[in-house]
Amino acid sequence: MSFTFKDFPADRDDLRADVLNGLASSPKSIPPKYFYDEAGCRLFEAICAQPEYALTRTERALMASRLPDIAAAIGPVDCIVEPGAGDCAKVRLLLDALHPAHLVVLDIAGDPLATAAEALSRDYAGLAVTALGMDFVHDLEAAAPHLPAGRRLVYYPGSSIGNFPPDAATALLTRFRQLAGAEGQLLIGFDLKKDPQRLHRAYNDAAGITAAFNLNLLERLNRELGADFDPSRFSHYAFYNPVAGRIEMHLVSLAGQDVSVTGRRFHFALGETLHTEHSYKFRRDEFSALANSAGWQLAGEWEHDGFAVQLYGSR
Ligand code: AVJ
Repeated sequence: MSFTFKDFPADRDDLRADVLNGLASSPKSIPPKYFYDEAGCRLFEAICAQPEYALTRTERALMASRLPDIAAAIGPVDCIVEPGAGDCAKVRLLLDALHPAHLVVLDIAGDPLATAAEALSRDYAGLAVTALGMDFVHDLEAAAPHLPAGRRLVYYPGSSIGNFPPDAATALLTRFRQLAGAEGQLLIGFDLKKDPQRLHRAYNDAAGITAAFNLNLLERLNRELGADFDPSRFSHYAFYNPVAGRIEMHLVSLAGQDVSVTGRRFHFALGETLHTEHSYKFRRDEFSALANSAGWQLAGEWEHDGFAVQLYGSR
């Protein structure tokens, strides 16, 4: 019914600065949020359709089958807030069950978000939809005036929290408390620790889609920053590190080579890595300890085939 879009270009990610900074670091790294340009979003969707990558399907199955129970545990809410909402597909199930008056979606990719949120608002008569084009990782102050009063539920599905190392995850969960407000709740989905062989296969699919997703980052830098990466001279390398409890994704240089990015040259030695992603896996108790350290109290949890959804309240 009603739809509002507000873009915050100044509060968005700075690809150029982050990439130059990451390439100057040791080990070289680029934040995983930069995977998701248009081609990257399509490749991620293709990953979710691979037989080895069950995460997204499993979460959807869990949410669909346990929805009445989950909705009952949440109780009445006035507003759902979804950081990193992307195509706004996942929240529909919750909207159908909870019937809030407001939906606030945030994403660093402002234009695709606006398109998806407007389409959603046409499907839900009576729902007030606000789309905010901002990077919620460093800016939630700007979101505050757009949050309606009342009981708010922050929804953070998809194990996106796994991209953040523990300290950053705690900081983010703390910021989610500001988004949720005093009476607020958090519904969050995350991938569980499981057989490392199964985890390994999920990030090394036979069709090579995850490899293409990883290498697309270099193509994005070529497209958007005029860099001259030769993707054929880098190898997708992903593995589960059981000490750290995470999948690590790397692009390993197959040769000694120089690459130029926005006029600056960077040397890759043979075998040197460009680290592109951490994907942390948790046990349920481990995750609730992390959430506790951000001031959240566990109020419900559901598990299905190696994936968990937990509900938190502020007290
Ligand atoms: C979207 C962060 C949950 O970590 O599994 C999929 C991204 N990377 N395959 C994940 C991803 C490689 C995904 N998350």
